[in-house]
Amino acid sequence: MTVQDFIPKPYNNVVERGQFTWEAPSNIALVKYWGKKAGQIPENPSISFTLDACKTITTLRFEKKQNDGAFSLDVYLEGEKKDDFKPKIQTFFERIEIYMPFLKDYHFKIETSNTFPHSSGIASSASGMSALALCLMSVEKELIAVASSAVETSLEDNYFNLKASFLARLGSGSACRSIEGDLVVWGKHPSIEGSSDLFGVKYPFEVHNNFKNYNDTILLVDKGEKQVSSTVGHNLMYDHPFAQERFKQANKNLFNLIDILKTGDLKAFIEVVEGEALTLHAMMMTSMPYFILMKPNTLEIINKIWAYREHTGIPVCFTLDAGANVHVLYPEKETVRVNEFIKNELVEYCQSGHYICDKIGFGAKRVDIEK
Ligand code: DP6
Repeated sequence: MTVQDFIPKPYNNVVERGQFTWEAPSNIALVKYWGKKAGQIPENPSISFTLDACKTITTLRFEKKQNDGAFSLDVYLEGEKKDDFKPKIQTFFERIEIYMPFLKDYHFKIETSNTFPHSSGIASSASGMSALALCLMSVEKELIAVASSAVETSLEDNYFNLKASFLARLGSGSACRSIEGDLVVWGKHPSIEGSSDLFGVKYPFEVHNNFKNYNDTILLVDKGEKQVSSTVGHNLMYDHPFAQERFKQANKNLFNLIDILKTGDLKAFIEVVEGEALTLHAMMMTSMPYFILMKPNTLEIINKIWAYREHTGIPVCFTLDAGANVHVLYPEKETVRVNEFIKNELVEYCQSGHYICDKIGFGAKRVDIEK
């Protein structure tokens, strides 16, 4: 598919007003996206676990207005008007207008809330942008005449998700991996048929039972605002001395994961996932300007995880986002023992003792009543 496939034919339904509510999850990358080309095209393919509990719920209300050549929108977070969120959404609308030509015909009221605290250091851009993209897709669906056959309907359902992911990517790259579950690939990889730089696709190959219902406990080491915005971070890869090697490594790690996910090789899985997390941070430490986003407690937790794994043989590992929080990943069958370990040995390193229990999830869903 090309970008042209996302430009709609003229709409043939008239819709005066309406509202849709979608909830979309966050995701955690196993192979990281870090570095992009113009137009939100990733420098390397990435793969993530879709999460279950960490999500954004967005209601989009829309009402026809005079098309005066301008976007019109209001944004609310947890019921509170947030004018400072408007520029980001305005930019998003500008980027997607060619694919959603109705945007200037309506006034939009966007009401959004997160299941995780806003000040948790957990990025809400992936879940937020994917929830909004899905709401906009629902509007577009109303503007298009109904399908005439079951085949058309199922093609439309598939297209609906692909286009939602395509749009979400233009809001925030990693958001395109938050439409579906439970493992999603974004970025063209020669060994993954159907993979694309334009949208996320469900991981198409066999996944061993070891990875079913995988757990992700997020340890909130630093609940502050991000020190480095991801846009700034991605830009640091432009002149980065190790960039090309890094992009090659990500491709290789994703290739290796195909066999690991099939055979259930947890030792090899841990090597890829922890290696990816540390490489992401190594890229930040070796860019110009350079950053250290880990905190002393991030390292304390990593060392505790390594010692516990060495001592017990339990395949628990960590991954990191572009921040200090630690995602502790472990198989479902180790839930009881690892939760004990987290409570007894890791919670003391969390800010105010806060952490979030999450696990692999199955993607976004519409949560209002179907008309
Ligand atoms: C470290 O998707 O937040 O989480 O496209 O600029 O919005 P933008 O970046 P964003 O970057 C996420 C980077 C990461 C790794 C990942 O999720 O793959």
